[in-house]
Amino acid sequence: MQPPLQKIAANDRIRIATIGHGGMGSGDTRYALSVPGVELAAVCDIYDGRLTRVKELYGSQIFTTRDYREVLARKDIDAVIIATPDHWHSTISIDAMQAGKDVYCEKPMVHAISEGKAVIDAQERTGRMFQVGSQYVTSLVYRKANQLVSEGAIGTLNMVEAWLDRNTAIGAWEYSIPPDATPATVDWDRFIGSAPKRPFEPVRLFRWRNYQDYGTGVAGDLFVHLLSGLHTVTGSMGPERIISTGGLRYWKDGRDVPDVMLAMLDYPKQQAHPEFSLMLRVNFKSGVAQEQFGFRFIGSEGVMDTSMSSLTLHKTPQEIEPGYTITTFPKAVQETFLREYRSKYPAVPPTADGIRPESSQTFAPPPGYDAHREHHRVFYEAVRSRKRPFEDAVFGFRAAGPALLSNTSYFEKRICRWDREQLVGV
Ligand SMILES: NC(=O)c1ccc[n+]([C@@H]2O[C@H](COP(=O)([O-])OP(=O)(O)OC[C@H]3O[C@@H](n4cnc5c(N)ncnc54)[C@H](O)[C@@H]3O)[C@@H](O)[C@H]2O)c1
Repeated sequence: MQPPLQKIAANDRIRIATIGHGGMGSGDTRYALSVPGVELAAVCDIYDGRLTRVKELYGSQIFTTRDYREVLARKDIDAVIIATPDHWHSTISIDAMQAGKDVYCEKPMVHAISEGKAVIDAQERTGRMFQVGSQYVTSLVYRKANQLVSEGAIGTLNMVEAWLDRNTAIGAWEYSIPPDATPATVDWDRFIGSAPKRPFEPVRLFRWRNYQDYGTGVAGDLFVHLLSGLHTVTGSMGPERIISTGGLRYWKDGRDVPDVMLAMLDYPKQQAHPEFSLMLRVNFKSGVAQEQFGFRFIGSEGVMDTSMSSLTLHKTPQEIEPGYTITTFPKAVQETFLREYRSKYPAVPPTADGIRPESSQTFAPPPGYDAHREHHRVFYEAVRSRKRPFEDAVFGFRAAGPALLSNTSYFEKRICRWDREQLVGV
């Protein structure tokens, strides 16, 4: 029997709990609390230091626990933020929806492709609001990019390049390990969950992204942001063929995932867009600025570049010239060719106005705009209205599935296929 679906009135408070209050969970909590009417009731984490920190930040009245089921059992909680390592996402999401909570689950939605359908089913069955935490899908930059692509601003899309390069230790997941982490302060078994059992080893908890047992490598961590952004801009349901390569080039610290990864994905024709090719890249020793994150959308009539906070559109006017090889034709053939050519494409005499045509335009959101804050606002709007958010479980899996298949392709050295209708990958 499901708990009744109650609409939360515009002025009612929404009480939330955060499960996993590390780097992102603490950030998500702050963003959530910036939304009017949202208040924090409870926090769950398996490292006691993080629970102590919660009380320092928000007061001793916050209920804290190592066991997320105690959070889900509370009647006073409407929604949960799930910001644990990836291998816990699907289990806690399903349990939370089953317990009548709305869910904001960090990306990637799942740790393995086999988990995706169960999360979608739970969303359908329970009617709970479920949003994945790829905040860029709410970004005004991608909304503008979507508008420009659908209006034909770059002509027919033929290729997209997207990259997320980094050049710092933290960016490469060398997170700090607290000196008080011991079997007494960490609930090790609860961290491990369904992953293979191992003795206590703090590095595997605090740098969990470096291990396939808990994380999803650069593909699940970062390609998924790029795929979510791409699907927002193009309205695509996803690719059908995926191949990736790369290697562990620099961060040889015991991790079992690559730090350089390149993937090529084929996007088939879909009502809203033609077929196009996608190239993805992550490099954790990129030798450039701390982080570079961008997209280049290439079309028949222009190129659109997006960064986190701006978009530039470059128009590339079609130049139709007969081409230099005609001089290799016999004179009479050249004359016939040019006569026919010019009757189709008359020569346009240059004008003073044309010396520097306005060829690029830049768009940026208003000062102070923050896509992450906005993504949380959108979620709590859904909690109140009971209208499904844009980045629901289906959208989340359409991004996570191909990202995880990039890992399969890399580790198994083979081409993978993604059935974007059935949401099945091989
Ligand atoms: N949207 C974004 O831009 C973004 C950015 C960073 C991280 N993330 C995502 O957020 C999630 C967390 O990443 P992070 O960088 O905050 O990691 P983190 O290690 O800083 O935090 C994870 C927290 O979860 C706790 N935890 C582990 N197992 C738990 C369990 N069973 N129950 C409760 N708590 C548990 C850990 O003790 C830790 O405090 C990941 O899925 C990651 O992909 C998203």
